[in-house]
Amino acid sequence: MKFDFKDSPVIRELGASADNMYRLGWNERNGGNISILLDDEDVLPYIDPTKIIRDLPLAVEFPQFAGRYFVATGTGKYFKNISRNPENCVGLIRISDDGKRSHLLWGFSDGGCYTSEIVMHLGAHKERLAQNPDHRVVMHAHPTNTISMTHIHKWDEIEFTRTLWQMCTECIVIFPEGVGVLPWMVSSSPEIGLASAEKFREYRILIWALHGCTVTGTSLDEAFGLMETVEKGADIFIRIAKNPNRSTGIDSNMLKQVAQAFNLTIKKGYLD
Ligand code: 13P
Ligand code: ZN
Repeated sequence: MKFDFKDSPVIRELGASADNMYRLGWNERNGGNISILLDDEDVLPYIDPTKIIRDLPLAVEFPQFAGRYFVATGTGKYFKNISRNPENCVGLIRISDDGKRSHLLWGFSDGGCYTSEIVMHLGAHKERLAQNPDHRVVMHAHPTNTISMTHIHKWDEIEFTRTLWQMCTECIVIFPEGVGVLPWMVSSSPEIGLASAEKFREYRILIWALHGCTVTGTSLDEAFGLMETVEKGADIFIRIAKNPNRSTGIDSNMLKQVAQAFNLTIKKGYLD
């Protein structure tokens, strides 16, 4: 007898993360989505992979993920409901052997489908996995201060990164490689998905101007920690942006001292 997948550690942790994200105000309504690349041992004690519920189409082929399992939140599903009703809000898929389709093995019980941002998610998984074999999680949200910051700050990656680093000392320590930034684009399209995937070659964090933020990690905790650190920096920026008494913040000289103390590798052009 198989155990129930909804009681698996993966689904429990996914629900707990969704609850935290919702309570922090990052995921209004169905805003945001999460996907996790799974290993066989996360799935096979619970699921018979030959029992396909139905097929779900993929707009872009991912042959490198043939036979791999993912859980993903569903399109239109409210974050506040994920932990209460994971079987409806989340789906477990296996990418088909030719990488062109996916087989639904569990979830989306009302006939739903995975997030409309699936190309961005699978593209991000592909690029981050190439950088780090332990990579597993992609998390997209609409954190208020991060979005607000894109309304008043230039969408330049180096300048955006440096402004965040200047806000509080931990920022450069937590994301020394900086943040990627994409200009405004229509969301949920293969175009934004593929443009995002390219950014994830270099960054674990990607800001979509006037939309939100996507983070990646080896675990839900790690991804969540990146999102909350970016949002903390953006929160401070929004609070002080209009204050005539604001200081220059953590300047390049101070940032260099932090980089040295924490042995951080900082790319050329970010601090010179
Ligand atoms: P989904 O409901 O399709 O996941 O879309 C939400 C979202 O944040 C789009 O960018
Ligand atoms: Zn979004």
